[in-house]
Formats: sequence, structure tokens, C-alpha cells
Amino acid sequence: MTAEILITGTSGLIGFRILLDALATGHKVYFTVRSEAKAEIILSNPEIKILAPGDRLNPVIIPDFTVDGAFDDILKDITHVIHAGSPVTNPAFDPKTEIFEPTVKISAAILASALKSPSVQRVVITSSVVANVGLDPASNIPSAATRGTLPDPIPSEFNDIQEAYVLAKMIEVEASKVFVKKHSPNFTVAHVFPGYIFGRNGLIHDATQMQTANSSNTYFILGMLGGELPFPIPGSYAHIEDVSNLHLRVALLDPSSPDIAKDWGISTEVNFDTIFDHVKKAFPKAVADGIFTRGKIVTLPFPYDSSDTERFLGAPLKSLEIAAVDVASQYLELLGKNKA
Ligand SMILES: NC(=O)c1ccc[n+]([C@@H]2O[C@H](COP(=O)([O-])OP(=O)(O)OC[C@H]3O[C@@H](n4cnc5c(N)ncnc54)[C@H](OP(=O)(O)O)[C@@H]3O)[C@@H](O)[C@H]2O)c1
Repeated sequence: MTAEILITGTSGLIGFRILLDALATGHKVYFTVRSEAKAEIILSNPEIKILAPGDRLNPVIIPDFTVDGAFDDILKDITHVIHAGSPVTNPAFDPKTEIFEPTVKISAAILASALKSPSVQRVVITSSVVANVGLDPASNIPSAATRGTLPDPIPSEFNDIQEAYVLAKMIEVEASKVFVKKHSPNFTVAHVFPGYIFGRNGLIHDATQMQTANSSNTYFILGMLGGELPFPIPGSYAHIEDVSNLHLRVALLDPSSPDIAKDWGISTEVNFDTIFDHVKKAFPKAVADGIFTRGKIVTLPFPYDSSDTERFLGAPLKSLEIAAVDVASQYLELLGKNKA
């Protein structure tokens, strides 16, 4: 079917990939950004231009996504919403106003506007595996069906960005479920819970940006560029292409599917300290030339059950090796180096 899809977060790693894939599969897409400048970055992107979407691609400027009614106008003719436009754990952000509040409020604003639009059939919200686990270590193997335990009371101030991020993701999921129960909307809502995402980022145009403005890739590229992540991270990984594919498949699920009420997790347990080994195998000359050097990423165990997602997608999830080679490949391209 041809859908009219609204995608948020297209100026970010995941949303942009979803946008490319939605256009490549023939859909008409509206994308929300906070400024004309961001819209122009997307419209002028070389990968977008290759797809020549014409009037299948439409920017919508919403300066503040958190305002009540912000999505009322744009949702009037939209059939499907994919909401990936939410903050990640940027150390420069204020935990409350730049992570917790937008995470919870934007999702609420989208659902409230969708309720006023008879055309909306489906809303898919990007969450994170942190919502499946919460702040305490998991006692069982988590999956899309599990939820961390919310503290009581929920703090109004946060110790750090990670605490704000985890609690925001947990509360957003809970609030969306309560919303659906209360309003029984004409549309269905599903969450996608990814682990750390790694892969090519079509918004990056120089090698420096790959290390500084690249969402989660900023962490993992350290592993091939001789850097050291100053804190350990859970070994929870998902390839950007699988994450995008999953969002679109979940969004466009047949309304009569028995899976329509399901949420979906996507995380493979990995050791991020192997990233350099994969790069060395694929690009021995670049390693010999000193372009890639071993970095250090201390990885904590993070088992997770994504078996239903693999069955749903009909293929094994892409390995960490594929992501490491894709990112190294993009880095070499941006340096103008031979990929031999
Ligand atoms: N990357 C990962 O490893 C990972 C893993 C699990 C889940 N996720 C989730 O995936 C989603 C997107 O992550 P990403 O990696 O694509 O991050 P990203 O590259 O930092 O992009 C974030 C996107 O969200 C938008 N955004 C952030 N705060 C906003 C706000 N207050 N109001 C409106 N828009 C806002 C950004 O718009 P601007 O350009 O205007 O800032 C950008 O388009 C988030 O929900 C994140 O929690 C990411």
C-alpha cells in the first residue's frame, strides 16, 4: 500500500535512515524539523537527491514539538506516524529540560493530535531497550515485553542524563499505554526498542563530523580510531538498516495482523571491543597506514531476546562486523581514501 507517512527526527541518525527507506519504497513522506535550516539540510542531501522524490517529500517546520496541538495541522491527512525525533544522551544537555521533558511531552503531543485526525491508522514510537530494563540490573533476559520498575515517587530532578533518559523512556511507554486505554483511538500504537545503533549516517559529510555529530556512532567509532570511551556501556547493538526496516515494517503492518498490538525489541549482545578486529580484517591497508588504530570500549553483558523480531523480519539481524565495516567504509570515503 502507499502510505502518507509523517516521520519525526529526520535530522538525526535513525529518522534520516527511515526517511530514505520510506522514499525508496515509494511512500509519500512528510517530515517535521524544528527549523528551515534543518529542512534544507535534508532536502539538499545527496542521498535524497538520488531518490528524486519530487512531491513525495514534504518538510513541515514545527519550532517546538512539545506544544499542545503542535501536530494538529500536519496530521490531518497522514495515515502513519513514525516518531523518532527525541533526544539521546548528549552530555551537553540538561537532564530535565532537554532529555526528560521532550521525550515524554513530544510523544504525548503527537498522540493528542492524532486523536483529532480520522486519517491516522498507526503510530510507531522509537523507544530504547533501557525502557525494558529500567535503572536496576535485569533479573531475567529482557525483551520488548518486559518493563523496568519505575521508582516511586518519580524524581522531579535527575542525578545525570542517563537517569533522565531511562526514566523518560519508561514513562513515555507507560503514558502511551494509558492514553490508548483511556481513549481507545482509531489508530494503533507500537513501540520499537533498539539497542545502541551503529551504521552509516547519510547526514554526515566529513570525517570530523563522524566523530562529533553522529549520535551513537560517535561512541563506537572510538573503537577504530584509537579512542577510549570513558565509561563502560552495555553490549546492546542494532544495525541502523535493521532498525529502519523494523520501523517501516511495524508501521505498515496489516491492521488485521495478530501482531498489531505488539511492541518490538531489536538488540544483539556484543562486545564493542571487537570493532577494531572487524575493521582490521576488512581494511588491512588502512590499518597498516595508521588510519585505523585499536581503541577501547569497555562492554558490560547485555543479554536480550529479539527472536520474535528476527522471525518478523525474516532474516538474522545484521552482525556488529557489518556495522563496523559500514562505518569504517564511510570514514574512508570521507577521507577520500582507497577502500582496498
Ligand atoms: N542512537 C541510538 O543508539 C539509539 C538507541 C536506542 C534508541 N534510540 C532512540 O532513537 C531516537 C532517535 O535517536 P538518534 O540516534 O537518531 O538521535 P539523533 O541523531 O541525536 O537525532 C535525534 C533527532 O530527534 C530530534 N530531537 C531531539 N530533541 C528534540 C526536541 N526537543 N524537539 C524536537 N526534536 C528533537 C533531533 O532534531 P534536531 O536536529 O532539531 O535536534 C533529531 O532529528 C531517540 O528516541 C532515541 O532515544 C537511539
